[in-house]
Amino acid sequence: MTHPLTDPFARAITYLRVSVTDRCDFRCVYCMSENMTFLPKKDLLTLEELDRLCSNFIRLGVEKLRITGGEPLVRRGIMTFFDAMSRHLDNGTLKELTLTTNGSQLEKYADDLYAAGVRRINVSLDTLDDDKFTQITRWGRLPQVLRGIDAAQRAGLRVKINTVALAEFNDVELFTLQSWCAERDMDLTFIEVMPMGDIGNEDRITQYWSLKDLRRQLEDRFTVTDLAERTGGPARYVRLEETGQKIGLITPLSHNFCESCNRVRITCTGEIYTCLGQEGHSDLRAPLRSSEADTALEAAIRAAIGLKPKGHDFDYSRQTVDGQVSRHMSHTGG
Ligand code: GTP
Ligand code: 5AD
Ligand code: SF4
Repeated sequence: MTHPLTDPFARAITYLRVSVTDRCDFRCVYCMSENMTFLPKKDLLTLEELDRLCSNFIRLGVEKLRITGGEPLVRRGIMTFFDAMSRHLDNGTLKELTLTTNGSQLEKYADDLYAAGVRRINVSLDTLDDDKFTQITRWGRLPQVLRGIDAAQRAGLRVKINTVALAEFNDVELFTLQSWCAERDMDLTFIEVMPMGDIGNEDRITQYWSLKDLRRQLEDRFTVTDLAERTGGPARYVRLEETGQKIGLITPLSHNFCESCNRVRITCTGEIYTCLGQEGHSDLRAPLRSSEADTALEAAIRAAIGLKPKGHDFDYSRQTVDGQVSRHMSHTGG
């Protein structure tokens, strides 16, 4: 009998987030610098190596697999990988295969994703204003993403919108986003901006908008009921009784959720990060490449999970970016 993956704080690891590329066709200001240098191809795990790595995690008890990036859908051959992973859905070992995407490639891939067994996707969208969209994503174009979201819904995929809450940027759009999602029967999740990336960048402090405040604004207009249900991720959900809509709140800063953390992250080069908000990581590429047997790999996975910290140290409370993490969010795919 295989022992499940459990960390030092008795949290079972059942959720794996895998970044398949560091590249992206956007340059969101809080996620990447404008002139990113991307990794040489030889450093990336091949699709076969990604398959072997994910399959081992699934063998060890992972039930939810989320593909991230950069933008996962810009990785060449990515649909082959989704197709390969769908065998774990078919044999019942994997409960959910999903992705987080910027939406730019959905027109092209929505049907293929559905065919590979994906049923629910998260699309990052911070604003419905064309100019602001270009301002925040630098290289993105809103109409392309909106067409992608339509294509995803037509293909039968359930779409959840992820919005990073940003003061003096999209705070004025709270109800526009909420009603736009309600009209399209899409769930909406807000995320507090985390101090990651360019160290010393004071923008993260000035942009921080606590979701406690956002919730109060919702309560001024709607009857807000807390829901017990979770989707296996960090979001807590509320329902707006007047619309029946579900709103997710991801609050790493104002209400940390580390005690129920069930996840680890793999970068596209095969590093494992056991906490998004910490610098600590271990290498899985060497054990993956050193032997065709999985013994060394499993030992390395277990050793890494044995070092998973209790939680993050993000803190804006003293109006400083204490607990800042120097890598960009794009490195670990959120
Ligand atoms: P669901 O399956 O819909 O629950 O998705 P999810 O929330 O697990 O995944 P998604 O990629 O949509 O995550 C949204 C964002 O929440 C991430 O990009 C991060 O910004 C943030 N987030 C997710 N997991 C963690 C975590 O463990 N710690 C922290 N601090 N933030 C997280
Ligand atoms: N803080 C919070 N969320 C972030 N994301 C990217 N960078 C940050 C940050 N610094 C979000 C994206 C996307 C997901 C992958 O992570 O908007 O929804
Ligand atoms: Fe888990 Fe770290 Fe996120 Fe906390 S900050 S929920 S421990 S990954």
